[in-house]
Amino acid sequence: MVPTRRSLLSAFLTVPILHQLTIRKALAQSASLELTPACGDDDDLTLAREAGAFYKPNAPLRHELFNDAPAGESITLAGLVLDPDCQPIANSLVEIWHADETGKYDTSGFNLRGHQFTDENGRWWFSTIVPALYPGRTRHYHLRVQRPGGTVLTTQLFFPNEPRNEGDYLYSDDLLLEVSDSADGKFGRFDFVV
Ligand SMILES: [Fe+2]
Repeated sequence: MVPTRRSLLSAFLTVPILHQLTIRKALAQSASLELTPACGDDDDLTLAREAGAFYKPNAPLRHELFNDAPAGESITLAGLVLDPDCQPIANSLVEIWHADETGKYDTSGFNLRGHQFTDENGRWWFSTIVPALYPGRTRHYHLRVQRPGGTVLTTQLFFPNEPRNEGDYLYSDDLLLEVSDSADGKFGRFDFVV
């Protein structure tokens, strides 16, 4: 039976963090999985990307964004915020903003915009939609990540197997979500190293 997004998220939230880190290190050692940069080296900090024209400060504190665009395809995004030694960082800011199912950003309100702080195990998650393409760009999310007392990392995350990735001037394999299908939408994983 294919799991639901909720069951994938609760698995992510209940698996002991040490186990997650063990899995992560094992994945990083596998030559076939270079999607998520390995921590353990300053060269492996998550890449920065420009904020673009549509960032707005003061996005609300929330995990649930899906109802802002219920015609969109559901996706749950989840991951960790880690330091360069692979240790999870609690209370890190994770902020997201992205286009809707027609490729438009909400510039008058805060639809599909939100922020949260990682839990005691460095975990973050959002329930939202898969953004549509808009002219000139491949499919992407915008994010800002800041560990307590740290500088802000502004970056973007991308989807695998997107025809426009290759030609996108901001795309990087290092910023690919690990996306799986669930019974009721997609589930995307990404661990930030800051
Ligand atoms: Fe954008």
